[in-house]
Amino acid sequence: MNEWSPSSWRQRPARQQPTYPDPDRLDRAIGELADLPPLVTSWEIERLKSQLAEAAEGRRFLLQGGACAERFDQCSAAVITNKLKVLLQMSLVLTFGLKRKIIRVGRFAGQYAKPRSSDTETRDGVSLPSYRGDLINGPDFTESDRIPDPDRLIRGYQTSSLTLNFIRSLVEGGFADLRHPEYWDLDFVEHSPRAKEYQRMVESISDSIRFMEILADSKAGEISRVDFFTSHEGLHLPYEQAVTRQVPRRKGWYNLGTHLPWLGMRTCEIDGAHVEYYRGIRNPIGVKIGPAMTPEWLTELIEVLDPDDEPGRLTLIHRFGCGKIADGLPPLIRAAKASGRRVVWCCDPMHGNTETTSEGIKTRRFDNIIGEVEQSFDVHREMGSYLGGIHFELSGDNVTECVGGARGLAEADLRRAYESRVDPRLNYEQSLEMALLIARKMASMNGRAI
Ligand code: PEP
Ligand code: CO
Repeated sequence: MNEWSPSSWRQRPARQQPTYPDPDRLDRAIGELADLPPLVTSWEIERLKSQLAEAAEGRRFLLQGGACAERFDQCSAAVITNKLKVLLQMSLVLTFGLKRKIIRVGRFAGQYAKPRSSDTETRDGVSLPSYRGDLINGPDFTESDRIPDPDRLIRGYQTSSLTLNFIRSLVEGGFADLRHPEYWDLDFVEHSPRAKEYQRMVESISDSIRFMEILADSKAGEISRVDFFTSHEGLHLPYEQAVTRQVPRRKGWYNLGTHLPWLGMRTCEIDGAHVEYYRGIRNPIGVKIGPAMTPEWLTELIEVLDPDDEPGRLTLIHRFGCGKIADGLPPLIRAAKASGRRVVWCCDPMHGNTETTSEGIKTRRFDNIIGEVEQSFDVHREMGSYLGGIHFELSGDNVTECVGGARGLAEADLRRAYESRVDPRLNYEQSLEMALLIARKMASMNGRAI
């Protein structure tokens, strides 16, 4: 294999990269980025890797979630607090349902670049570059918005830093009170046919927290500091290269722009630029795998990305769709097993379940999402592997983007509060209900009620 460097990807074909009209301005922006301090540290990254190694062995469970695409204009106290709140509350429900420590990883503080199916969009005979996320261009169908602007790379980095700064402060101080169910918005429960069961689960979680507090003679928030890690799709390679650094007293190179970068389904060709970039960084990495992935391809990817079988290195995030998971997943589990590597298996039940309504609105059905999660647990159990994580696109707010759930959101509700510019997300209530259903599924698989 050739020598790796943070720029060796430039010798390979790179998919999903924007075309900048002025390459010198791009170089200047990248040079500026490369001089800025990092967002995260190598020891945080190593801590996450060792926790993921435990998830691969069934001792922890990964909860990864956040927006499909973050927006610069939603870098606000309310949006960040609500997202953190729902992730924290979901993680608490999962802790009690799964009886395992949860690793919390946000799709935030850098999730600004999106793969698109076409380089251009045409409206009324006018063609402009497609919107590729706020890191690259703007969403309005105007030339000034859509022409890729290198200054957005700096703004993206700064906005990630503002987001992460606020997250770190919230996590350090007081935020853990949200562990208490009296802070949860549970009105939706009454609207569900499972109301009684949900209520019982919440009461039992509540009792356990009080019990823990009495034992430790302190508030649950003080018992253990909560950790949040960051992740994003490492898609824009010049940006990722600029935040790839060496640190004193450690070998190799780290992407210090996020803890857990992931490789998207559309950019994971073995000979492509993205795989070349990812193979050389020391971070734990995620790889999205879907119906197009073959066992042979996955075997090669595992060899290239984890040649040393490093614990915690690889998280395979499968996203098949409710109708395809049962047949599609087993051959890939067999391939990973045959490779001898200990990977973390994580289910993304969102990206294989996207559909368009008759009115042309992108949505996902709650029942298909939970259906894919439940089947994933079953398939892994049958195959003797362990489902060690879950990956959601969600919002902490009351958006109406996915249909179904306890309140029975219908297609007619979608226009009311549809904010995503890309994929539809679960809202606060749907996310919490999802966590309750996962906890219930795991408890029943283990022959107990919670
Ligand atoms: C995503 O996670 O938003 C995404 C584009 O996923 P995938 O690469 O799995 O389609
Ligand atoms: Co998405």
